[in-house]
Amino acid sequence: MGERAIVARGDNHRILQGKDVNGTPKRILIVEDSLIVAMELREILKRAGYEITGTAVSGEEAIELQRETQPDLILMDIMLQGQMTGIEASAEIKKTSPVPIIYTTAYSDEETLNDLKLTDPFAYLKKPYDNKELLITIELAIERSAYQRKLTASEFKYRGLFDNSVDAIFIVGRDGRFIDFNISLTRLTGYNREDTAAQTLSEMLEPEGSFGSITEKIESEGMIRDYEVRLRQKGGEVRDCQITATSLYIEDVNSFAYQGIIRDITDLRRSLELQNHLISGIIQVMAATVEARDPYTAGHQERVAILSELIAREMGLPEDKINEIRMAAMIHDLGKIHIPSEILSKPTKLNDTEFELIMTHPTIGYEILKDVEFPFDLAGIVYQHHERCDGSGYPLKLKKDDIYLESRIISVADVVEAMASHRPYRPAQGIKPALEEIRKGRASRYDEEVVDAFCRLVQKKALDGFLVE
Ligand SMILES: [Fe+2]
Repeated sequence: MGERAIVARGDNHRILQGKDVNGTPKRILIVEDSLIVAMELREILKRAGYEITGTAVSGEEAIELQRETQPDLILMDIMLQGQMTGIEASAEIKKTSPVPIIYTTAYSDEETLNDLKLTDPFAYLKKPYDNKELLITIELAIERSAYQRKLTASEFKYRGLFDNSVDAIFIVGRDGRFIDFNISLTRLTGYNREDTAAQTLSEMLEPEGSFGSITEKIESEGMIRDYEVRLRQKGGEVRDCQITATSLYIEDVNSFAYQGIIRDITDLRRSLELQNHLISGIIQVMAATVEARDPYTAGHQERVAILSELIAREMGLPEDKINEIRMAAMIHDLGKIHIPSEILSKPTKLNDTEFELIMTHPTIGYEILKDVEFPFDLAGIVYQHHERCDGSGYPLKLKKDDIYLESRIISVADVVEAMASHRPYRPAQGIKPALEEIRKGRASRYDEEVVDAFCRLVQKKALDGFLVE
């Protein structure tokens, strides 16, 4: 055996036996009643690079030395001097320390073997053992113990996250029964730990069958994210919640379960509703201000808003996007507030200078709105409502992909409404010429998806009574 034996571990990973990756010697406590054997062991281990923290001849001494020197491993003989056996000393040490223990003994009767198993030793080496076998067993025991410690630390960290999370975290079985949950879940449900454990998640969720829909979705898609449900609390109050969950295999019970997070979004939703309410109020005031100065387009913005909303809904856009489109459409002509009302209400066709002035209204609208912080780019949508997908619009001459979808929808609704309705300089033309203009401009001036959605609405007669035939 050389000064530092090399032990192979993995294909390209070699470590120095007796030392850790930093070169610090691993520390061993020898418990051996025979001083001669103990001295031999000392020599073998020292040559292999280990540090010996002490040599004990009795169980009592072993316990004391373990506490004082905190070795990385104990080599424990079973028959010792003093009152205790090695097994008894190990049992005592194991009460306070996870240190790995390797037994070395000449006695291998069944009773001894059964007794030593109770102390969860790493290994048992029967004397006389081979030195090489001894060194490899020691190395494996120290490695395994370090790995175990890391694992325990990571479990501890995970447990800390689980316990201290503000969000409710749960693990439930396939029947919805709780297997584990944190204190935030009890805060959310309003039940104490015992009562929560006695319930099922499926009983708490509304509408009925939500739990089944959630598990079905997890089974087919692997997980659910921000799935919206309502949760009935102990007192009967119902909270709006989002669940993010996935399935989990639990080895102990050899079964799949579901683990997830429930986030209570009731307060957030209420404040968003309040915010939307306030924004709607502000927008209505602005719309009324424009319309007070421009009686001929009275109702135009409101009708464009209704039409834009119908198109957006037909396109299957999400509810918050539909809301934003409706609000932007309500004030898309806000910039007209700066155009002289004689021009806006002129009963004859506009000359070039007058038309140029009219064309400034998207920019003016943008300038008025741009410094107000709305939760979406209201100013930008208003700015772009006269842009056309082929770049023939104004004021920026943007092309399709650079124009907000919101503006592309409003522009179609705007053209349809303007053509179909009465104007100062002409009577209402009805829906037919408007439909013709929109169809003609499909995929050039107007976004084809928006046009198609609009045509579907006409086909379904969803606009009857709203636009003149
Ligand atoms: Fe406009």
